[in-house]
Amino acid sequence: MKKIDITASINGIKLPLCIMNASGVLCTTDQELSNLLNSYSGGVVTKSCTYKPREGNISPRYFEWNIGSINSMGLPNLGINFYLNFLEKNKINKPIFLSISGLSTEENYLLIQKANQSSKITAIELNLSCPNIIEKKEMLDCNFDGISNFIENIFRFNKKPLGIKLPPYFHDIHIKNMALILNRFPIFFVTCINSLPNGIFIDVNKESVVIRPKKGFGGIGGSIIKPFALANIHKFYTYLRKDISIIGCGGISSGKDIFEHILCGATAVQIGTQFMKEGVSVFERLKKELIFILEKKNYSSLNNFKGKLKNLQ
Ligand code: DHB
Repeated sequence: MKKIDITASINGIKLPLCIMNASGVLCTTDQELSNLLNSYSGGVVTKSCTYKPREGNISPRYFEWNIGSINSMGLPNLGINFYLNFLEKNKINKPIFLSISGLSTEENYLLIQKANQSSKITAIELNLSCPNIIEKKEMLDCNFDGISNFIENIFRFNKKPLGIKLPPYFHDIHIKNMALILNRFPIFFVTCINSLPNGIFIDVNKESVVIRPKKGFGGIGGSIIKPFALANIHKFYTYLRKDISIIGCGGISSGKDIFEHILCGATAVQIGTQFMKEGVSVFERLKKELIFILEKKNYSSLNNFKGKLKNLQ
């Protein structure tokens, strides 16, 4: 049997396995992050942090059903200093992605400055797409001039590998515009996609919504968003500079789902809803399932099929 290589290199950042957690899921506290360091996960992404700790939104703020999840967490996190201290205290055995999500551009500059002072962070994942903040005024997602200015300012001082977590886009022109902006900067990766914003799930017996914040509106994740994740990954793969890696995120619950993400152009993947359902054992299961598919298809590495999705003739 050939040796099968399912490691990944995100623009030079080496992951021992191409599968890691998605920011937000079981990566907020000391215990959760320790569990991730001790798991098969190929990297650790921390909960999106702000400058000061936050309690987040009122509960219940997360709900899942067979094919999806809805959340309106509201950025509960322990503040950037907690995450920097955690990394100082613990033995780091894999790449660490510090996710940051300031409530304003000024706060993001401050967070990136702080992250630059830590030698333990492998890369910053700048989250441009949190949909659940009640007090948030700016929404940069589709403000392309705003984003361009913002990133330009970041690269005036940032020295750390930096990637951007993107929202789902639903129009080709939005992806094209975003990619053309990103292509002008030394960005390491993009993560596609964040949850689909502003969905509702209904409990038919109670005739009510299932989460309390924002009258039940929240970000949708899980299997039902996979087609949108795949489409965004594939479009970004065609428009982005080839040295900008894509981390696929959205609707992965099996090795087959990972195969599809990579076929669309992902270099590595993140697991959100399914990690929440299954806990840290999900990484080993998915690793086995992915290897099984590659064996069957006679592929020895992810590059054999990455981005090679075919059209019908
Ligand atoms: C939260 C949700 C997100 O989708 C995100 O990107 C960041 C934070 C939250 O509600 O905590």
